[in-house]
Amino acid sequence: MKIFKDKQTLQEEILKNKGISFIPTMGGLHKGHISLIKRSKKLKLKILVSIFINPKQFNKKSDFKSYPRNTKKDIKLLKKLKINYLYIPTYKDIYGFKPKKKVFLDKFSKKLCGKFRKGHFAGVLNVVNRFVEIINPKYIFLGKKDYQQIYLIRRHIEKRKISSKIIECKTIREKNGIACSSRNLNLNKSQTKIASNIFYYLYDLKKRIKKNYSLFKQNKIKNDLITLGAKKVDYIENYDVKSFKKIRGPNKKFNLFFAYYIKDTRLIDNI
Ligand code: PAF
Repeated sequence: MKIFKDKQTLQEEILKNKGISFIPTMGGLHKGHISLIKRSKKLKLKILVSIFINPKQFNKKSDFKSYPRNTKKDIKLLKKLKINYLYIPTYKDIYGFKPKKKVFLDKFSKKLCGKFRKGHFAGVLNVVNRFVEIINPKYIFLGKKDYQQIYLIRRHIEKRKISSKIIECKTIREKNGIACSSRNLNLNKSQTKIASNIFYYLYDLKKRIKKNYSLFKQNKIKNDLITLGAKKVDYIENYDVKSFKKIRGPNKKFNLFFAYYIKDTRLIDNI
């Protein structure tokens, strides 16, 4: 595994390849990332992982500061997984140039997480647009836990006629049901139990809503989550995953999207 800290040397190296499989991360690697890497191996291209905690996608300084960081452990894991390239850029390497393509921000960027984390998706697209320009990957691997992010990156790639293809990978869960996320590292044992109870409650509820849509009563569900130990619920909504339109009645294909806090940790998922 070769490690790069600046884009010039990285580009010199990767230009030699036929195509790159790219897995963007903010570190704090977990089973979800491992599954993206394993999925990427099937395509038999050189694999590039990036670790960059992008300050522009955090709407609160405190959230940026408390985001889990463990680069040493991450490097060890990536070596074990035998990826080819690791890119750990500095802020200047990423933001010190003007990208050729402008970010396309679909109007969905103001919904769900976008409504509660102002500027978040603009920050995600800004950094992804820059990574794509630097790396020109053939494939980009992203996990469905962040379905909203996938949708917006896809819209940007389509609009800006970028040739990279997104490979959506299924959400990987802990044994207790919680979607793997770097933020889970900030939960203690009892908070993890709360997150697990909330997952199973919503998992079961979704099955019941599918049979009887009138059970989707947002205020009641929000109160139930608070009773289970959530501090605050940002949203709980049903969206059609293909069109990314909010659904207002029975529809077999919807996913239940939710975001809530346990103490200061914000968790999102969709089931
Ligand atoms: O999903 C993430 O970890 C980040 O949003 C991403 C795609 C690496 C951009 O910073």
